[in-house]
Amino acid sequence: MGEGWGVARRYALVYVEPMEHTPKPVSDKARRDAAALVRKGNALIGRQAFVEAANAFRRALDLVPAHDEAGFNLGAALAEARRTAEAEAAFRRLIAAKPDIAAAHARLAAALEAHRIARFEPGMRLVPAGALDRALTDYRRAVDAVPMLYGCHNALGELFMAEGRLGEAEAAFAAAERYPSDLPDALLDLGATMRHPGNLADALAMHRKALALFPDHEYMTEDDYLATDLTFTKDEILLPDGFEVMMEWERPIMERAAEIVCHNRGDVLNVGFGMAIIDTAIQKQGVATHTIIEAHPQVIERARRWAADKKGVRIVPSVWQKALDDLPPLDGIYFDTLMPPMIPFLLRVPGLLKPGGVFLYFQFMVQFENLEAMIGKGLSLGIEMHPFDDIPGNAYYRLNEKTPDGRYAAPMFIYQKPL
Ligand SMILES: C[S@@+](CC[C@H](N)C(=O)[O-])C[C@H]1O[C@@H](n2cnc3c(N)ncnc32)[C@H](O)[C@@H]1O
Repeated sequence: MGEGWGVARRYALVYVEPMEHTPKPVSDKARRDAAALVRKGNALIGRQAFVEAANAFRRALDLVPAHDEAGFNLGAALAEARRTAEAEAAFRRLIAAKPDIAAAHARLAAALEAHRIARFEPGMRLVPAGALDRALTDYRRAVDAVPMLYGCHNALGELFMAEGRLGEAEAAFAAAERYPSDLPDALLDLGATMRHPGNLADALAMHRKALALFPDHEYMTEDDYLATDLTFTKDEILLPDGFEVMMEWERPIMERAAEIVCHNRGDVLNVGFGMAIIDTAIQKQGVATHTIIEAHPQVIERARRWAADKKGVRIVPSVWQKALDDLPPLDGIYFDTLMPPMIPFLLRVPGLLKPGGVFLYFQFMVQFENLEAMIGKGLSLGIEMHPFDDIPGNAYYRLNEKTPDGRYAAPMFIYQKPL
């Protein structure tokens, strides 16, 4: 399982708190005292003094009732002391305190659905992104709960096994299997959440299928990418291993993105020149200024040649990380650099936009963290779905399932700063 799981004893026991989940009213002193008691309890477990350890964990829980480490290790100590009923109660209490993941999953999918728009139009009022805050926060808690739920059900299975209660053990192990270690990754892939609201098993299956279909590709660092020779064909930009940086078939999606980003024909920024598809479409829309940030030397060269006969275009030959302090206030921003880091860019967006300005990105495999990063930024959000056809040999589209009409679809996230 994930981080936080300490030394494996008979029950894969001692759990080390990865993150604070303490409710607000608990004082700092109570938290400090509870932490000291948990340390003491863990030391007592190490000396096989299980009853004394359980007492220390209980006292910690009196101070901080939502202390996961104290709760889990209480169950562990009681199990070792063969106080089975009390151990079972401790694990079950912890399970009951965790969010219902399927419900959080269904609620987030419904909350995202509320942002769905058929088509962005200038002047339309999008739903404030703040409407998602609660669903996103609850979902994060649910994702974080997966390792603990796995651990508790598994510990119950071990407990019942040791007692010879085989039927109950089997049921507990089966319950643990509902929280496998790749579930958090699947939950963070919101394509699966949106397609299978509340259905963890199908969301997990979709995520696994997508990963299995994805060709083996060593993710490279940005520095390595920028030093890599790219191949430019009529239809693609490719890395040496054949991985697609950009593909011609995305043209309709890029052209639609250009319409949105040029909503008022104002000052527009595109990050990532690629095959010039979106920038050519932006030029067709006609804008006041058109800034392009591009970092790869070969692509910069092509961008400069492309820009030679265009008016109002400024090529910024840099990684965006070094280029954002020198931009005019913007009416439209499109971001498509292919690779992380995206969140640091997202955090800058509200400060880069003019009131009424829009920021958009298109994502095949929707990342929860990207939506989470936009919590509390005062922007509105619309989600336009973009269908596309089966492209033989293409790596990305398979990350999505087909819609009922037999096409694939992925979302364009459109954020707007209020006027
Ligand atoms: C998927 S392509 C963009 C395709 C473009 N939207 C189009 O319509 O053709 C990604 C581009 O982002 C560039 N890029 C990657 N990391 C970057 C960074 N940190 N700063 C600026 N450009 C970057 C790549 O060199 C590549 O040209």
